[in-house]
Amino acid sequence: MTAQIDHALEEIRRFRPSPEFAAQSVADPGLYEAARTDRLGFWADQARSLLQWEKPFTRTLDWSNPPFAKWFDDGELNVAVNCLDRHVAAGLGDRVAIHWEGEPGDSRTITYAELTDEVKRAANVLTDLGVGEGDRVAIYLPMIPEAVVSMLAVARIGAIHSVVFGGFSAESLASRIDDAEASVVITADGGFRKGKIFPLKLTVDDALERSAGSVKQVLVVRRGENEVAWNDERDHWWHETVGRASNDHEPKAFGAEQPLFILYTSGTTGKPKGILHTSGGYLTQAAFTHKNVFDLHPERDVYWCTADVGWITGHSYVVYGPLANGATQVLFEGTPDTPHPGRWWEIVEKYGVTILYTAPTAIRSFMKLGRQIPHEFNLRTLRVLGSVGEPINPEAWIWYRHVIGGGSIPVVDTWWQTETGAIMISALPGITDLKPGSAQVPIPGISVDILTDEGEHIVGEGGGLLVITEPWPSMLRGIWGDPERFKETYWEKFGDKYFAGDGARRDEDGDFWLLGRVDDVMNVSGHRLSTAEIESSLVAHPWTAEAAVVGAHDETTGQAVVAFVILKASQEEHGNDAVLASEELRTHVARQIGPIARPRQVFIVNELPKTRSGKIMRRLLRDLAEGREIGDTTTLADTSIMQIISAQVR
Ligand code: PRX
Repeated sequence: MTAQIDHALEEIRRFRPSPEFAAQSVADPGLYEAARTDRLGFWADQARSLLQWEKPFTRTLDWSNPPFAKWFDDGELNVAVNCLDRHVAAGLGDRVAIHWEGEPGDSRTITYAELTDEVKRAANVLTDLGVGEGDRVAIYLPMIPEAVVSMLAVARIGAIHSVVFGGFSAESLASRIDDAEASVVITADGGFRKGKIFPLKLTVDDALERSAGSVKQVLVVRRGENEVAWNDERDHWWHETVGRASNDHEPKAFGAEQPLFILYTSGTTGKPKGILHTSGGYLTQAAFTHKNVFDLHPERDVYWCTADVGWITGHSYVVYGPLANGATQVLFEGTPDTPHPGRWWEIVEKYGVTILYTAPTAIRSFMKLGRQIPHEFNLRTLRVLGSVGEPINPEAWIWYRHVIGGGSIPVVDTWWQTETGAIMISALPGITDLKPGSAQVPIPGISVDILTDEGEHIVGEGGGLLVITEPWPSMLRGIWGDPERFKETYWEKFGDKYFAGDGARRDEDGDFWLLGRVDDVMNVSGHRLSTAEIESSLVAHPWTAEAAVVGAHDETTGQAVVAFVILKASQEEHGNDAVLASEELRTHVARQIGPIARPRQVFIVNELPKTRSGKIMRRLLRDLAEGREIGDTTTLADTSIMQIISAQVR
């Protein structure tokens, strides 16, 4: 990480928007001025112009009980109507909403009229299954259109969805179901991943055996056509219920603060946090940023965000932002390299994709494979490229612009979080002079700052902790069921300012450079993982006595999980095969949490570096994992310990 940042700081290239691009830009520089002059008025204007309100709001922000914000709270709207019905009513029913591409190469084209119909049917079925306003529905699906339909159907009836990424294990799914007390799960028999079927329904069955029992009904989409066990009392096929349901559904308007979804994300403790988002403010900022950051021209663009709907990027920039804006988009079920390493570029060519939004990890893996693969395809339709999830190093930025973008199109690096709900820091193409490696400037209406650890504003250039100084429309409204943790995690450190958990630096032009997490959260391939969560999984294994986990720099994935484990004495008696133990523990973590959490390395050691008070000094382990000289060891209880550990690791 440090090497990458040092490099970034030497970066001096600047790219001005081309006059042609600037001339057709959706965003105009006046947005910044408008937001500066009257921030709340600016957001109220956006909410009114981007969304359809059944009952207009008169109050923009209620911040009388910080950190619990209310935006537009006396207004009423229906989120699904905003994403669907109103476009159909405006005569856009025949516009393609989704070009869906399945992993094996099957595809479906779904218009706004068809998507609206399907969501109405699904809404009727959910109501029949007993789902009412405010009830939680867990969604555990592959990247198929039914995932989008399910989310919107839940929203349409004022219920709350909790989408769980299909790569999570039964145990992770069960804990999320229990925390939210979901009453229904929507899943599929199986999904395709790298040419194989992964059996989602089986995992749901397993999760429901482990869970406390809130789930009464399971709705199952047929996708993998694999065999599934069936519980007649509880399980329903999607095609037999939604397929036969009426497409007549009268939407109700809900208050702007009606909860829309919970999405679990890793924090600094072992237990994932259920981040809660609500309706009016969230949709306003998702739509505003989707339109302006990607320069969306819905009548001619074909937009593609490669994120899975199981992550926040999929929520805001596959489902809510694009559909609220009436965009045409690609939805892809597969991975970048199946069945061949040009799969993504083939899709760009096939659908004439104009806007591509993806993660630096993906760009770096393509870089490794070389430019000849993308060059076999026609990528000339592309006109805006986006990046999200982790810092993008200038080399990857330049490669993305040149090899994928043909050398002249804008690349926007967007900084935000599950908690922020929508993009917070990003260039606006057509306006901003681009700087590779920097996320650049807060979007209009967003106020950020960099503070010292003591909470002092850093004047001018300098590095410190990133904070958001004013409430914003798509901010999280809390942690599900845990208001204290919400206050503690984000608001205790700096009072009324939101502490993001990221380090950042401001340069002489006032542009922001993100420097990675400052807490025990790792970022692997743009996915958030907590060291504590993986450590608790490791110590849950019967062989483990103690474990410490660090995020180490990785060429491709940004960071990688590296674990140091002390085995139990009883284990040593059984031969103590370090290679076997390390493999077993890697698999164990993947099984317990999900394959994304599988450590790159598990080192079996006899000691861990601890301070006199017994705190593990992860910083020293990170030095070791990254092959650096070991830093200051003077606060260790035993200063020779790092030499012993280094010898064991080598
Ligand atoms: O550390 C930052 C990093 O990802 C974290 C948020 O992760 P998550 O909630 O999973 O959301 C990811 C997608 C929005 C942040 O705290 N991060 C995200 N985008 C960037 C980034 N770091 C640097 N540059 C970015 N553009």
